[in-house]
Amino acid sequence: MRGKQKMSDAVPVITLDGPGGAGKGTICLLLADKLGWNMLDSGSLYRLTALESLRKNAPEDAQLIEIAKNMDIVYVPDGVRLKVMLSGEDVTDAIRAEEVGSKASEIAAIPAVRQALLERQRAFATLPGLLADGRDMGTVVFPHAQLKIFLTASPEERAKRRYKQLKEKGIDANLPELVAELKARDRRDSERSAAPLKAADDAVLLDTTEMSIDEVVNQVMQMASECFGNKVV
Ligand code: DC
Repeated sequence: MRGKQKMSDAVPVITLDGPGGAGKGTICLLLADKLGWNMLDSGSLYRLTALESLRKNAPEDAQLIEIAKNMDIVYVPDGVRLKVMLSGEDVTDAIRAEEVGSKASEIAAIPAVRQALLERQRAFATLPGLLADGRDMGTVVFPHAQLKIFLTASPEERAKRRYKQLKEKGIDANLPELVAELKARDRRDSERSAAPLKAADDAVLLDTTEMSIDEVVNQVMQMASECFGNKVV
């Protein structure tokens, strides 16, 4: 365990944690592209476990652990997003369904499921570097990351961003309902006892409520170049 953590110390890691809708996914993709680094969308692992559990009607803890450990997942770069393949099937959209998100939030509260996904997540830390997006990247999965960022925005702003995204996809949405859903998920993610959503003590807090995507990317790039110097040039 100690040996493993030591090995990954050599790989530059930037963690981006924060609540849903704070823009972590978009920011991570843009940064990974700029830096030429790998990226871990840890939420997708919880969503994939949830999807398989729903499809296989396998809700028991032991079944969830089996799924979490053995799912056959491949990420394929696809323009500005990451295509997610599960046993050869493109499930990029399927894992974003509301039902899957809710199930993911539910199973993410089970310590054994989190444990089953731990090594899978750590395996993403390979050269030239990793951008890790999630809730507990800086606190649990990569506690030795050299740069930790906690990205947030007001629930109203996050709901507005999600509303815009859904509208762009032609999906009907209701803004007050989205605000209420986001607040409920924040509460669930923050109040659970297993790896609750909270900033690492050594994380830099970045409130993006009033910031554009470009401003956030530029600010993180600045921090990355101060932290890693010529590794990010
Ligand atoms: O970021 P997301 O919405 O795709 O995450 C889906 C769910 O998984 C969400 O309820 C929070 C949970 N999650 C977690 O507990 N730990 C992570 N590192 C990433 C996501």
